[in-house]
Amino acid sequence: MTDRHVELKRGLRDVHVDRTQSSFIDGRAGKLLYRGYNIDDLARHSSFEEVVYLLIRGSLPTSAQLSELDAAMKASRAIPDNVIEVIRLTSRAHPMDVLRTAVSGLAAFDPDTADDSTEAVVRKGIRITAQVPTVVAAHARIRNGQDPIHPDDGLDHAGNFLYMLLGERPEPEDAALINRDLVLHADHGINASAFTSRVAASTQADFHAAITAGVAALKGPIHGGAAEAVMKMTLDIGSKDNVESYVKNLRSMGKPVMGFGHPVYKALDPRSVHIRDGARALSERKGRPQWFSVLERVVDVMEPYARKGVHPNVDFWSGAVYSLLGIPDDLFISMFAIGRIPGWTSQIMEQYAAGYIIRPRLLYNGPMDTAYVPIDQRA
Ligand code: COA
Repeated sequence: MTDRHVELKRGLRDVHVDRTQSSFIDGRAGKLLYRGYNIDDLARHSSFEEVVYLLIRGSLPTSAQLSELDAAMKASRAIPDNVIEVIRLTSRAHPMDVLRTAVSGLAAFDPDTADDSTEAVVRKGIRITAQVPTVVAAHARIRNGQDPIHPDDGLDHAGNFLYMLLGERPEPEDAALINRDLVLHADHGINASAFTSRVAASTQADFHAAITAGVAALKGPIHGGAAEAVMKMTLDIGSKDNVESYVKNLRSMGKPVMGFGHPVYKALDPRSVHIRDGARALSERKGRPQWFSVLERVVDVMEPYARKGVHPNVDFWSGAVYSLLGIPDDLFISMFAIGRIPGWTSQIMEQYAAGYIIRPRLLYNGPMDTAYVPIDQRA
């Protein structure tokens, strides 16, 4: 096969690899739906727990169904002591490395590991969704020489995470903002980590293996790392008076402004507005309005790029929210993972149901039919 006979689709950009009922993205209209529901409605009205139910079970829950899910998630929040020990042993590694190792380790203690029936995968998806915040918070404390904090059943998923991480029951507004952030990160088409999870699931590898693969792919700075990069940029800029020269300088070196642009959205990322408004209110509540004013100034200066379809994305604002809440910057990708487990779960379930192996081709362009030279004759 030669180059002339094959049309390469590098990076699979714009290639549809299958159908999905999990999420729908219209990049031109700036629209995102989870199982048909607009994320504008979900961000305004739904708890993360409802979105977990929606993505994993396929419909919005009734009150009774939500209570049942809530109880199941609360019952699963604590992680086995052996996994805490794994976190201790690996605590000097990057939080995403620790998370990847711990998720893999959880397979050894899950009663359903070997069962990939639909009901067992639903149970595992709910369980891992509940466990991942505990892993992230436990690691953050252990590496600081503190003991992990036991989950608090009196708090919702978002509030309990902040409590386990920071050691204090959060302000309701802070917990609500993290709830919204998790809702907005719950699924997003076949991005790199969802694809990686699906590839693992397509081999009929077990559910923990597929989630571990998703966590591994999310770690990369050009997938999960934009929020952290925006935070660093904001600190570098320092004050709104420096924004113009900072952006000019970046662009003269041909570098992108972090938190702007998106491979799919050419209109405004619909998730971004919900976090932007929350970030504004938060920076005022925390007495640090200058933070938000730097970000707003970046948006002003980047206005000419809107014509090219380059707008602030969700990560542009979420890094500010995490920082203002006291979440360490190397946990920003973990925040993304905490939100994304339900989306990975629903897509892994689709892939199990599809039942085929994902196996694309590579076009070989190395040397052909090279003469073999015995080792003692090689130069
Ligand atoms: N800052 C400045 N200019 C940007 C830009 C950014 N963040 N993103 C895109 N552009 C420019 C491109 O260079 C291109 O310019 P050109 O027409 O002169 O060649 C134009 O805008 C259109 O770019 P587009 O094709 O829409 O973007 P892309 O698909 O090549 O890149 C990203 C998409 C995400 C890789 C890119 O926007 C980026 O690196 N963003 C910063 C990182 C980030 O926030 N990632 C998180 C995504 S969720």
